[in-house]
Amino acid sequence: MEPALLSCLNPHCRAQFAVEEVLYTCPRCGALIEATYPGMALDPAATKRMWRERRMSNAPLDQSGVWRYREMLGFVDTTVHEVVTLREGNTPLLPAPPAAQFGGLDALVFKHQGFNPTGSFKDNGMTCGATQGLRLGMQRVACVSTGNTSASMAAYASSAGMTPIIFLPHGNISYGKLAQALEYGALTLQVEANFDQILALVRVLADETGIYLLNSVNPFRIEGQKTIMVEMLDQRDWQVPDWVVVPGGNLGNISAFGKGFRELLAMGFIDKLPRFAVIQAAGSAPFYDYFLNRSEFHPIPDPETLATAIRIGDPVSWPKAIQVIDDSNGVVESVTEQEIADAKAIVGRCGIGCEPASAATLAGIRKLTAAGVMAPDADVVAILTGNVLKDPDYIYKYHTGQLKTPSGEMIAPGYGNSPVVVPNDPGKIVALLAERVGS
Ligand code: F0G
Repeated sequence: MEPALLSCLNPHCRAQFAVEEVLYTCPRCGALIEATYPGMALDPAATKRMWRERRMSNAPLDQSGVWRYREMLGFVDTTVHEVVTLREGNTPLLPAPPAAQFGGLDALVFKHQGFNPTGSFKDNGMTCGATQGLRLGMQRVACVSTGNTSASMAAYASSAGMTPIIFLPHGNISYGKLAQALEYGALTLQVEANFDQILALVRVLADETGIYLLNSVNPFRIEGQKTIMVEMLDQRDWQVPDWVVVPGGNLGNISAFGKGFRELLAMGFIDKLPRFAVIQAAGSAPFYDYFLNRSEFHPIPDPETLATAIRIGDPVSWPKAIQVIDDSNGVVESVTEQEIADAKAIVGRCGIGCEPASAATLAGIRKLTAAGVMAPDADVVAILTGNVLKDPDYIYKYHTGQLKTPSGEMIAPGYGNSPVVVPNDPGKIVALLAERVGS
């Protein structure tokens, strides 16, 4: 195979660069870039068999649900370069009948990326970004984050002996995620600005200081995240679902998913694409607005949502994401704070649980079936992006009727489950149990 390249996505530029160059955007025209693999051709039947057999192996790379598919990650030669892996991926497909019913579907399966080592889908990308950082000899790596990227980067950088430097929007990140960054040993800077403002700042800092940037604008993050779709198809014996539903913030994940599917389709591993649905929180929905009116992309200067993971008004990857939506006859939907909160409680009642941003998927599905866009008998995989324990504060407030939207309106605990304070008295507890759960 010819060497992998970094290629500019602007059809009028299409400049190409070596993968060893430190680039986040095209130095000629400023457009987004991606890793490309000229001449990549794999035998679908033989490769699918090999990937399946690797699940029986104890070799670290085979145990990773990302590097198991390393033939699609040809930017690095894993026989030469050290791979930074925490055995990420391997996330389950979980059927969820109560969520299906709530969403207006006959059946629904969640692919739960919260089962990753640091509890979010970021690990799938970070293993590749960190591996590339190490291969380039980087000693310091940085990211701006709404929380999950920083938790993941801190873990991967520390495990590889690189220094993680994290920039967070002060006051708008859940404690679970902040705690992870501290515990994994990152230098943690809380900036008094929002995600979009800090990303602009950090891009300047990265250029000036030579610190390696591991946001999803880093093309190797996208390479890792595309394998979420490869693993999903492997787990479904290569049956392509009708729909894949995913929350949208900076739009790296949807871009990665589209790239994964595009490459598998081109090589004959599958014969069609699913339709993609990206769900945004109503207060942070510039991509939804763009999908509706298609004139110009208007960033939102002051994005708001309690789903802080997707509190992003100027998503970097929107040009890649709209391509994925268009190529797949996909849709973009937006959901309110109340809709997210209720959907999240339903995911919890399935015994599955997720963080607020992830629940946007189920809230979006409910809207799309109600509107007749998604058929009740559709074969749907929804991505739960983060673990339930990422944001316990939100959970407690919802269930106890104390959760308020960013503008101060109460969120009704429609599926609330408040703890009950009881006296130290067996008789009274027996009576309460009889009343609440039957005798
Ligand atoms: N869900 C969760 C739990 C996230 O943490 C994020 C993004 C998204 C969805 C949106 O994914 O940006 O690829 O469209 N979190 C980033 C962060 C921005 O900094 O952790 P996206």
